[in-house]
Amino acid sequence: MFYCERAVVGLQRIALVSAMLAITPAAVAAQQPGEPEAGTMRELALAEGKSEYIVYCRTCHGDAGKGDGSMAKILTKKPADLTSIAARNGGQFPYWRTFNIIAGDVETAGHDMFQMPRFWSRFEKQAMMPGYAPAQMRLLALTHYVESLQVPPQPEAK
Ligand code: HEC
Repeated sequence: MFYCERAVVGLQRIALVSAMLAITPAAVAAQQPGEPEAGTMRELALAEGKSEYIVYCRTCHGDAGKGDGSMAKILTKKPADLTSIAARNGGQFPYWRTFNIIAGDVETAGHDMFQMPRFWSRFEKQAMMPGYAPAQMRLLALTHYVESLQVPPQPEAK
C-alpha cells in the first residue's frame, strides 16, 4: 500500500513534467535566431524543481518565493525572500551556497531543523523508495528553480 502510493506520486510527477514539456515548442518558437536551441533540458530541470518547490518549500517561502507562505506567520524566524538572493549578493546568484543551504550542509543562524528542514537527509531516505529521484538530482533541480526566481532575472548559465 505504502509503496503503491509512492509509485502513484512518481507517476504524477512524470505526468507533470510531461505536461510542462508540452509547452516547450512554444518556448522554442519564441527563441531569437542565432540563440542556441531552446533549453529543453533547462525547461525540464526547472519543471522538476518547481514541482519539488510546490511540495516542500511553498508553505514557508510562498508561491513566488517571497517568504510569505501560509506557515510563515507561525515561524519565529521569517522565511527568506528567495527572489532577492542574487540582489543581496552583489547581483550574482551564489549557486553552490544556495545548494548547500537547501541540502542543510550550511549552518545558518536561526536556520535549524524546526525552522527549515534539511532536505539532503530527507531526500536520501526517500531515494530508497520507488518513485523518487536521487537526492542530488532533486537538490540541483531545486537550486535551478530558486535561481530562476531571482529579480532581476539572472543571465542564463552557459
Ligand atoms: C518550515 C519552513 C521552511 C521550509 C519548508 C523551507 N524553508 Fe527555506 N528557509 C526557512 C527560513 C525560516 C529561512 C531563513 C533562515 C535564516 O534566515 O536563518 C529559510 C532560508 C532559506 C534559504 C536561504 C536564503 C538566503 O537568503 O540565503 C534558502 C535558499 C531556502 N530557504 C530555500 C528553501 C527551499 C528550496 C525549500 C524547499 C526545498 C525550503 N527553503 C523550505 C524556512 C523554510
